[in-house]
Amino acid sequence: MTDTITIALSKGRIFKETVPLLKAAGIVPLDDPETSRKLILDTTRDDIKLVIIRATDVPTYVEYGAADLGVVGKDVLMEHGGEGLYEMLDLKIACCKLMTAGIEGRELPKGELKVATKFVNCARRYFAEQGRQIEVIKLYGSMELAPIVGLADCIVDLVDTGNTLIANGLIPQEHIADISSRMVVNKASMKMKHASLKHILDKVSEAVNRS
Ligand code: ATP
Ligand code: PRP
Repeated sequence: MTDTITIALSKGRIFKETVPLLKAAGIVPLDDPETSRKLILDTTRDDIKLVIIRATDVPTYVEYGAADLGVVGKDVLMEHGGEGLYEMLDLKIACCKLMTAGIEGRELPKGELKVATKFVNCARRYFAEQGRQIEVIKLYGSMELAPIVGLADCIVDLVDTGNTLIANGLIPQEHIADISSRMVVNKASMKMKHASLKHILDKVSEAVNRS
């Protein structure tokens, strides 16, 4: 009997950049999440389905076994903690950097820093390693606005081209981590569905090495 495999993906850049890698494993989605309202997509493989969820929910689905496999940014994984799943492959897609950023030319205060971010755990860990006191202000997006309106001294956010920072008068300051997307696997699935998952991981890994 063949194993049924569920793969968790988020819409947008991760979906777009993962599709060619899945194709190398013979997995092609039958719908486009940008145009379809379906949350479960069939694929050209009867035994494989995709679930389309928020990027930040991917580790949770994989941890609890609601998905066997998932593709998720290292930023989201670092923030989640990575419990209950194996990080199997660096897909080398959706590459960017997790950085601190602040207003160009403005010095940071010497004492406690106000840091606005959606990466609360990453920010706490990073500044604790530096021995710096911070107050974290949790935001869900548009972090770049926080220093401009005086909500925070700096932000922790993802930077790729740097255009979003420049457009808002901010500059990248400290590098926290290089980010790319990872293929993660549920720990129990890795035992129970080992052959099927290994086949997919091997094919995707070959495709990553070719690209
Ligand atoms: P959610 O919907 O859960 O808030 P999101 O809006 O952050 O997630 P995306 O913008 O699709 O989701 O980002 C998915 C992943 O892509 C991020 O976790 C990160 O790893 C990577 N990423 C984000 N922004 C960029 C960027 N500008 N350039 C390259 N990769 C990026
Ligand atoms: C991400 C991130 C930054 C921006 C950085 O946002 O949160 O705002 O990309 O990219 P850049 O350095 O090339 O300008 P995204 O475009 O994913 O929008 P979102 O945060 O609303 O999802």
